[in-house]
Amino acid sequence: MKINKLTSGVIADKVVAVRVDFNVPLKNGVIMEDTRIVESIPTLKYLLDNNAKQIHIFSHMGRPKGRIVPALSLKIVLPELEKHLGEKVEFRKNYAVGKSRIQLHENVRFHDGEKKNDPEFIKDLLRCGAEVFVNEGFAVSHRPHASVVGIAHFLPSYPGFLVQKEIEALSPYIEKEKNQGLTVVIGGAKIGTKINVLKHFAFAADNIILGGALASTFLAAEGFDVGRSMYEPNEISTAREVLGLAEKSKTGFHMPIDVVCAESFDAQETINIPVEDVMGDMMIFDIGSHTIASYAEILAHSETIIWNGPMGVFEKKPFENGTREVLKVISAQKSAKTILGGGDTLEALKRFGVEKTAFSHVSTGGGAMLEFLEGKDLPGIEVLRCR
Ligand code: 3PG
Repeated sequence: MKINKLTSGVIADKVVAVRVDFNVPLKNGVIMEDTRIVESIPTLKYLLDNNAKQIHIFSHMGRPKGRIVPALSLKIVLPELEKHLGEKVEFRKNYAVGKSRIQLHENVRFHDGEKKNDPEFIKDLLRCGAEVFVNEGFAVSHRPHASVVGIAHFLPSYPGFLVQKEIEALSPYIEKEKNQGLTVVIGGAKIGTKINVLKHFAFAADNIILGGALASTFLAAEGFDVGRSMYEPNEISTAREVLGLAEKSKTGFHMPIDVVCAESFDAQETINIPVEDVMGDMMIFDIGSHTIASYAEILAHSETIIWNGPMGVFEKKPFENGTREVLKVISAQKSAKTILGGGDTLEALKRFGVEKTAFSHVSTGGGAMLEFLEGKDLPGIEVLRCR
């Protein structure tokens, strides 16, 4: 993929608009995980160090649906941004130009026009006088929104260093060809956002490993009783389609052989049982110990590992083992290339105290990483192509 390149020449003495993704997880007004802020810093510093006249940062936070939701104000990221950047940043509420060299604007999704890519809203964004656009929001590059693609149609547009890094790390796996030694680990709750990536890797990977509630849908598709577990009955035929594809392509498709069950999410009492023993009121919340051991074996023999989505409800102590152990095994693979992504996966790293440096690449994208890997053209990247 040939895309423009950010250089000092294109930004010197120019007003630069930068789209970042500061949609970080919050709990009671506290930032739980700050990778997306930290990863934007090299580009912001580069703009400062290479004489950009003014820098206007745009981002979204959550899904306020075109309304002002104070709890989703971007003001919350300001201290964190200033700390990592080592610079004062001015916060702007209404896209008008402030005095400081670097300004963070309020949540673009407070306006209906962001999602609709409305020309009137693009005009509002351009009130800052931007002459150059930099997309540094890889994680939002799958959204055809005003501050991601709309603004790029009016300005010379370049990828930030994070966007470049993500493209380089993920591009080798998008081709429709078999990657020998590649194991893809997919977890999380729903099949919906992961179906296309599963179909892609059902052909292109050597092995697929499943966890999370998503695995329960596949177990149901194979005829297992999943009790009262969260699963998607409407996706059973899709799951069968993926299983068929994997079989045809001789891709190893691995589902839990045992699971950790309880009566409810808050239960303290749990049992580790074979999948064929799940029944009645039981609910699956994690993969079991034998599954962990067999997954560890496959991972230990993989040359490349791509992981998106937790193996169970890792936020709850009784159900954290699967995610923690898989994480431990992957981080210990020193000779394998290891790529991680997804908001929950990043939160798991933080919870279990595993450094991001233990992996070859930690993607800031959730949905964007999946759509990129399935081979889709992301609108926010397409606008950066050399013309
Ligand atoms: C994400 O967290 O995946 C990105 O910030 C995109 O958010 P969205 O799914 O609300 O568009």
